[in-house]
Amino acid sequence: MTPLLTTHGLSRDFGGLKAVDSVDFSLMPGEIRAIIGPNGAGKTTFVSLVCGRILPSAGRIVFDGRDITDMPAHKRVRLGIAYTFQITSVFARLSAYDNVALAFQRAQSGRSVHDGVMEALDRTGLADRAKETAGAMAYGHQRLLEVAMGLALKPRLLILDEPTQGLSDGEIAGFIALVREIGRDATVLLIEHNMHVVMELAQRITVMEAGRILAEGAPQEIRDNVAVQEAYLGGTVEAAS
Ligand SMILES: Nc1ncnc2c1ncn2[C@@H]1O[C@H](COP(=O)(O)OP(=O)(O)O)[C@@H](O)[C@H]1O
Ligand SMILES: [Mg+2]
Repeated sequence: MTPLLTTHGLSRDFGGLKAVDSVDFSLMPGEIRAIIGPNGAGKTTFVSLVCGRILPSAGRIVFDGRDITDMPAHKRVRLGIAYTFQITSVFARLSAYDNVALAFQRAQSGRSVHDGVMEALDRTGLADRAKETAGAMAYGHQRLLEVAMGLALKPRLLILDEPTQGLSDGEIAGFIALVREIGRDATVLLIEHNMHVVMELAQRITVMEAGRILAEGAPQEIRDNVAVQEAYLGGTVEAAS
């Protein structure tokens, strides 16, 4: 099987800082992959390079056999790369429906906007909140709305950057079920701090530290990896198991 996404020597400097440092990465189609690592490890910068929000200092990105390194972000969206940003990025004054409709239009799909929007709202459990103003929705619902906006793009690769941050335990349980369902027809790249969520969802885990990949493997391998424990996991390993 050919990978859906590969990066080759992918790097991004900010001044003298190597935020992403020569990363070789590979993601198979259909996988749910978690990226973990301490704050400042370069996780957000890495996925920002993949979706085209920022450009690399060096290296290449290949998606579905095609070199997309120099492709603008809006064209990557049309190829099926959707990114929900770490910081809530909904338009507060618009309704939930209109937020998803805007996302849907970016994908320039041939389907009816209404059907596409309602399907995305339905999958995230927000269908009966379609008319609510996004900014007035509960925080957890706004995060789900972001996922709905991602789904409206009909992504082949859905990138979620700390989606469970600020969610209650009940909301997190719902979110885990949602990502599992999404994972049935999309590849998912999930940056996540909550180790319970990571262990529940990820088939493989990539650990980043200081711009580099420190380790990669199945959840059990990562849990047992001494270097990972020292660099990052600490006491949470026990808590997550
Ligand atoms: N736009 C930027 N300008 C300057 N430094 C940045 C910028 N974005 C990220 N960085 C720095 O790059 C490093 C990696 O950041 P980031 O990718 O956000 O890490 P993570 O998502 O793993 O917490 C950090 O040291 C951060 O301060
Ligand atoms: Mg980040």
